[in-house]
Amino acid sequence: MSEAEFDDEALEKGRLLFAAPVEFVMGVTTLSALPPADFPEVTFAGRSNVGKSSLINGLTNRKNLARSSNEPGRTRELNYFRLNDQLFLVDLPGYGYARASKTDIARWTRLTLNYLKGRPTLKRVFLLVDSRRGVMDTDEEIMDLLDAAAVVYQVVLTKVDKLKKAEREGLSEKIVKRLSKRPAFHPVVRETSSETGYGLAELRAEIANFC
Ligand code: GTP
Ligand code: MG
Repeated sequence: MSEAEFDDEALEKGRLLFAAPVEFVMGVTTLSALPPADFPEVTFAGRSNVGKSSLINGLTNRKNLARSSNEPGRTRELNYFRLNDQLFLVDLPGYGYARASKTDIARWTRLTLNYLKGRPTLKRVFLLVDSRRGVMDTDEEIMDLLDAAAVVYQVVLTKVDKLKKAEREGLSEKIVKRLSKRPAFHPVVRETSSETGYGLAELRAEIANFC
């Protein structure tokens, strides 16, 4: 079994974890308001509109746990969800949202970056990348920061339902190859669709390992 795969037991552990109660804890707008670091946590980061909130909804089988929207820049706080009193899931504001005011962008960026650098219980950052666009410069800027802070990140491709089979061929492998020299890059790329549920069982299994 390669590192990228899970056996039935691991998949079942993931399924059970995400079938457990999950609740919204709080939206955080300043670092001093972060909840106590009582649980391990995983965070969903990525460009605005990439599908972070939808992925949290998909993983937890809830339609509207995290607010997803057509309107980019919807998530403006660090939104904390507690899963089964075992784990925090964190939905971050997206970066690269052009229409926000400069002051807002500066505020969210500072908050998000300081959070990513300084949270002791942060086990992994899932860096979401739109499968149609691939890794962009702004994604690499976040990777630079995470490399410097030694926070492990893993690329999750979103919206693979929008790709043709031929377009998907070799996509993950190419990304792994391109990023493999980065020190904090976890070299397994996950392909997902919150629309169809593709790849979510594996991602649940991956996350269950942190409990
Ligand atoms: P911000 O909070 O603005 O940073 O956005 P976000 O990354 O949370 O994105 P969100 O989950 O709100 O989704 C943005 C748009 O993409 C919505 O219209 C979703 O319906 C759509 N979307 C998300 N995931 C998928 C997917 O897997 N497939 C398809 N086809 N659309 C998706
Ligand atoms: Mg969002």
